[in-house]
Amino acid sequence: MKRVITYGTYDILHYGHVNLLKRAKNLGDYLIVGLSSDEFNEIKNKKSYYTYKQRELILESCRYVDLVIPENNWEQKIDDIKKYQVDIFVMGDDWNGKFDYLKDYCEVIYLPRTPEISSKKVKNHLKHNNL
Ligand code: CTP
Repeated sequence: MKRVITYGTYDILHYGHVNLLKRAKNLGDYLIVGLSSDEFNEIKNKKSYYTYKQRELILESCRYVDLVIPENNWEQKIDDIKKYQVDIFVMGDDWNGKFDYLKDYCEVIYLPRTPEISSKKVKNHLKHNNL
């Protein structure tokens, strides 16, 4: 059984997220998502519209996701990879090269982002149209 892990905020789940999760899952048999906690988002200067619990609920309903775990800091990845016996670490290519240090522990793959969609873009659109 091949285990895959990926991380992110996944606020206002959109088709770019689903494309990423679908391709990540298809690299193996079991997909774990490390979901940024609200506290970790603050550290990253991100403010999500949905709370952690709401984002977790939505992600757990996605057919490609087998397990959601909290991401609380930048340093936990090596421990997660060991704990969950991860074979492949996946991120979108906006993170190209940033996680190459994990290659000592598992395969590291950056997948191309889906163009022209992001949570930020959806939020800005709603704001500028007073929705
Ligand atoms: N992702 C993707 N294609 C997009 C948007 C996101 O493949 N169009 C991927 C990212 O590369 C990452 C994962 O989805 O691996 C979670 O990304 P996240 O930062 O939560 O989503 P964004 O929509 O980029 O969020 P924001 O606009 O707040 O930066």
